Amino acid sequence: MMPLFSFSALGLRRGKRWGAGWVEGASGDGGWRAARGFFARVTFPGWGGVMAFSDGVARLLWPEALAAAGGLGVGSVGGEPGGERRLSALGDAVGGGEDAGYHLPVLEEEVVAALAPASGQRFLDGTLGGGGHAARLLEAGAEVVGLDRDPEALEWAGRRLQAWGDRLVAVRASFSSYPEILAGLGLEAGLDGMLFDIGVSSHQLNEARRGFSFLRDGPLDMRMDPDAPGSAAELVNTWPEEELARIFYEYGDEKASRRVAKVLVQRRAERLFETTGDLAAVVATVVPKRGPASPATRVFQGLRMAVNDELGELRAALAGAHRWLKPGGRLAVITFHSLEDRLVKQFFRHHSAAELDRPEWPAARPNPECYYRLVTRKGVVASAAETARNPRSRSATLRVVERLG
Ligand SMILES: C[S@@+](CC[C@H](N)C(=O)[O-])C[C@H]1O[C@@H](n2cnc3c(N)ncnc32)[C@H](O)[C@@H]1O
Repeated sequence: MMPLFSFSALGLRRGKRWGAGWVEGASGDGGWRAARGFFARVTFPGWGGVMAFSDGVARLLWPEALAAAGGLGVGSVGGEPGGERRLSALGDAVGGGEDAGYHLPVLEEEVVAALAPASGQRFLDGTLGGGGHAARLLEAGAEVVGLDRDPEALEWAGRRLQAWGDRLVAVRASFSSYPEILAGLGLEAGLDGMLFDIGVSSHQLNEARRGFSFLRDGPLDMRMDPDAPGSAAELVNTWPEEELARIFYEYGDEKASRRVAKVLVQRRAERLFETTGDLAAVVATVVPKRGPASPATRVFQGLRMAVNDELGELRAALAGAHRWLKPGGRLAVITFHSLEDRLVKQFFRHHSAAELDRPEWPAARPNPECYYRLVTRKGVVASAAETARNPRSRSATLRVVERLG
């Protein structure tokens, strides 16, 4: 098998520093061991990502950026921009997904298998994020309308995917507004697939200034769309105690929700909350530490879901999807939270049941809202290999339905 890179073309030597990173074991003709070190460690100036990798498939991000860095030409990278090779030896040594650039997509192969993208097909990716899933659709020759309400995601994914030209239309928007966007693009004729990979990206969690993380002190923000009203600080400092308790309990599963809300309201009367570190520290005075997770985990999750109206967005996205799918078109949803997964599961069940029955009815009746066939009877979860590589995938569940004719 040919090496993915010609390392000599990059002028890299064993142990040579390149930008902020290291190259280890690079030899003249590459080889998978050398490649492994290279992919995992090298960072180019002005170029945050290195490789996206999953299930042994490595994909180079922005070959043209490499060329601009005075190194490798586009043609040397698996033959074409976005080219890929199977790297069977690429495995655990690559390390955690959180470090691999902007975001490492979860259940990537499963999504591709479910959506089966092909040349000329059209897809909506409602959660563009780092563009990992979208890249796979584009690589298969499909056209993609990609939405994200976070301008940083659009910038990243736009640069990453620019090689695909106008096959990608990236729009900054909440995915609940996809009907207007698709109508504006004249896509009433229908889509071959829709993907919603709900939740936050690793980038959002890792950037302290975005205020999602209790591990990194930053402004108490948590808005995916930084221009949207209602930051986490506004909620914590102004919402009634009962409302705070409700979101901590319903969205965060926090058993001590009432006590937490009470203490927060007492504390804000003396001094308002401004930072994630401050909030996490006060929550820790109320919530006992259970296991390795921070005591603030659940409260932060509840807040984040409320700040971004995540359940409302998901409901809206599901509600009209059948109108935009061609017969045989597929709708794939990845969730990270049991409440969201339940919502998707029940929605898919109801809309794929040919008949409905109730105890008070003499007989079952045809379901006028049966639009789909279930593709996944059970939620699809990440393999052990994926969870080892990317711990974030542990809580992901994929469900897929297909539009009936
Ligand atoms: C889990 S990441 C998606 C990762 C992406 N599939 C990839 O392969 O990199 C979720 C992304 O969806 C965006 N997002 C979440 N809810 C959204 C919504 N209601 N409307 C638009 N974007 C949303 C977030 O800003 C984040 O960038």
